[in-house]
Amino acid sequence: MTQDEQKQEVARAALAHVVEGEIVGVGTGSTANHFITCLAEIKHRIRGAVASSEATRKRLEAHGITVFDLNAVDELRVYVDGADEINAAMQMIKGGGGALTREKIVSAVARKFVCIADAAKLVPVLGHFPLPIEVIPMALGHVKRELARFGGTPVVRPGFVTDNGNLIVDLGGLMIADPVQLETALNQIVGVVSNGLFACRPADVCLLGTASGVRTLTAAEQPPASQAPGGT
Ligand code: 5RP
Repeated sequence: MTQDEQKQEVARAALAHVVEGEIVGVGTGSTANHFITCLAEIKHRIRGAVASSEATRKRLEAHGITVFDLNAVDELRVYVDGADEINAAMQMIKGGGGALTREKIVSAVARKFVCIADAAKLVPVLGHFPLPIEVIPMALGHVKRELARFGGTPVVRPGFVTDNGNLIVDLGGLMIADPVQLETALNQIVGVVSNGLFACRPADVCLLGTASGVRTLTAAEQPPASQAPGGT
């Protein structure tokens, strides 16, 4: 099965987590796009969706799905999104598509985070995928100097502006032993809007595409973060 077929399978499997009559939080990226295609088939059974990016909002609307402003919604039962990497503790690197800040905001409102990912995304230690960091443009020099303390190689994503009008710095070459600590520490740098570590609020369930079908992983079934690969 190809990587894209795995993405399609997990996207379809995520429909089982959609709550009838409710509003669904929808992520960004190619796997999330497959989910939107599936969601369109049951659009008459949901109230609508909240989008984690302008690209997702446009795609949802093109499929005739009502898109709500997040501020018009008190709670989301479920948020469905892809990931660039996920570990056994359901902690993720996200933001390959540059939508990390809005993804983090929408997922913070959701009761359940369902990560949909192909098999290649499951890793023992986060950090092989460069960690995206959203930065306010006037703070770029300061943030790059501060990032030197963390090791790794910061690269400004060329020609990319986020939906919030900011820049993305991709921090490569990391082996992230303690994702919660790093997520928290990076957020202390003035000028950083958010970073692509989703460790303080990990996924609740991961639907992982494999050659033999969809595997369902939950944090409860995995060793605690401190014992898992990637823990301290
Ligand atoms: C976008 C994201 C995506 O979820 C992540 O990049 C995975 O993308 P894809 O589903 O295309 O592999 O975080 O900001």
